[in-house]
Amino acid sequence: MNFLINTNKAIEAKVDCLILPIFDDPKLRGATKTINTANNKIISDFQKNKDIQGKIGQSRILPITGKTYKRLVLVGCGKYEKYSEKNYKKALISALSKLSRTTHKSAISFLGTSDICGNKAGTEYRATKILAEAWHQISYQYTTTKPSNEKKISLNKLYHGTNGNARSSEMKKGFNNGDAIGKAIKTVRLLADLPSNICTPTHLANEATKIGRKHKAVSVKVLNESQMKKFGMNSLLSVTAGSSEPAKMIIAEYKGSRKNEKPIVIVGKGITFDTGGISLKPSNSMDEMKYDMCGAATTVGLLQVVAELGLNLNAVFIIPTCENVPSSTATKPGDIVKSMSGQTIEILNTDAEGRLILADALTYAQRYKPKLIIDMATLTGACVVALGQHHSGLMSNSDHLAEKLLKAGVDSGDATWRLPLTEDYSDQIVSNFADVANISTRGSGAGTITAGCFLQKFVGDFEWAHIDIAGVAWLEGQNKGATGRPVGLVSEFLISESGN
Ligand code: BES
Ligand code: MN
Ligand code: ZN
Repeated sequence: MNFLINTNKAIEAKVDCLILPIFDDPKLRGATKTINTANNKIISDFQKNKDIQGKIGQSRILPITGKTYKRLVLVGCGKYEKYSEKNYKKALISALSKLSRTTHKSAISFLGTSDICGNKAGTEYRATKILAEAWHQISYQYTTTKPSNEKKISLNKLYHGTNGNARSSEMKKGFNNGDAIGKAIKTVRLLADLPSNICTPTHLANEATKIGRKHKAVSVKVLNESQMKKFGMNSLLSVTAGSSEPAKMIIAEYKGSRKNEKPIVIVGKGITFDTGGISLKPSNSMDEMKYDMCGAATTVGLLQVVAELGLNLNAVFIIPTCENVPSSTATKPGDIVKSMSGQTIEILNTDAEGRLILADALTYAQRYKPKLIIDMATLTGACVVALGQHHSGLMSNSDHLAEKLLKAGVDSGDATWRLPLTEDYSDQIVSNFADVANISTRGSGAGTITAGCFLQKFVGDFEWAHIDIAGVAWLEGQNKGATGRPVGLVSEFLISESGN
């Protein structure tokens, strides 16, 4: 897609389609108003007859003759007073999905024009960033194992309309960042939607390696099981013990800043399928456990964002990845392993495997003496119970880092919510036979937090945040599919850390 800025007045625009906002009241504003006047009040007539009512998500295409544009795409934007970035994105998604099913080739959006949205700081940047992200969201198509999902899209020029105002570098930057983030979200969704017999640890390693080959600033290395054994990563190896599919530890280093600048380390859980192991899960919806590598997929996506934007920072991306399946060689409840950190772990439930692979990855992360560590994991069903599909669960040993991530969540529309990590909870994961147990042995509540407490034992004194994405990484039911979250949230954080 070509993302462009159009500074013409709406009435002079030379393009197939004009995308115009209709709010939930009779008043017409900005481009909608001038276009209405220039076309014999066709829009107000449409509105009066309730062909469109301004309800958010509604959209209608109207033909026009004798003008430099051929169609109006009228889009419901909800109450004017409540017009927000969230509603702007919803409106765009409605209009763009409709347009993508037509043969029109070019369109200008006036949904984010300053005469509608105001000139608040950052508005122009947000408007174009969200436009690019919305386009990538609606144009994702899963075709690998179902080629008939492919729909030809004619639209190839998408403009942000200023309705006669000047272009700005903020608009350009918004497009640039939104395009990179939107593409990365597509990468993540595809990796996550692929079934576990295609998206294996080796497949993830190959995808990361491909990104490494494309960008000079990125170098990727992949540890195999015998190399992991040498590092003492027995916690990770205990999870893959039952599987014949080779486990990998993927490490991608990105250098975008001074050599001695401490890196940010991103870690993502890459269980390519989670049966629960010997602590076998019930079969209901077990297929969804192909998504247990969404943390890993997001890590690959973030590597792509950082490299494509050439962010001014150093970063390391670490992906521990394997399958969790039962067999005669699988780890059994009660087994005790010595992790890379030296701490022994009593594995009371083999279904609490994410924290076991993350433990060794987080220990490995400390070798970089990082500025901070962020891990992302589909870690607990309890997080889905607590926060549902709207907020991811944030836990951190640093108020400073937590505040920044909460803000990045709000700014990107990829929200997160903080949970407490106090000693009361870490007291729940004691073991009579090892330094720590992999599940609570003192009460059954707060499963998301006790998992966070377990991870905290493997980050030393480094600034660290854990994001439990079990509820937000994919949608269930009829709309089953990966969301690409939290690429938006963590990209926002990384972009603001880089000062780009
Ligand atoms: N991958 C699951 C968590 C999960 C479950 C994510 C459902 C999304 C939906 C994780 O490995 C797991 O099985 N966690 C257990 C932990 C328990 C055994 C302490 C859980 O949440 O039930
Ligand atoms: Mn599990
Ligand atoms: Zn899991």
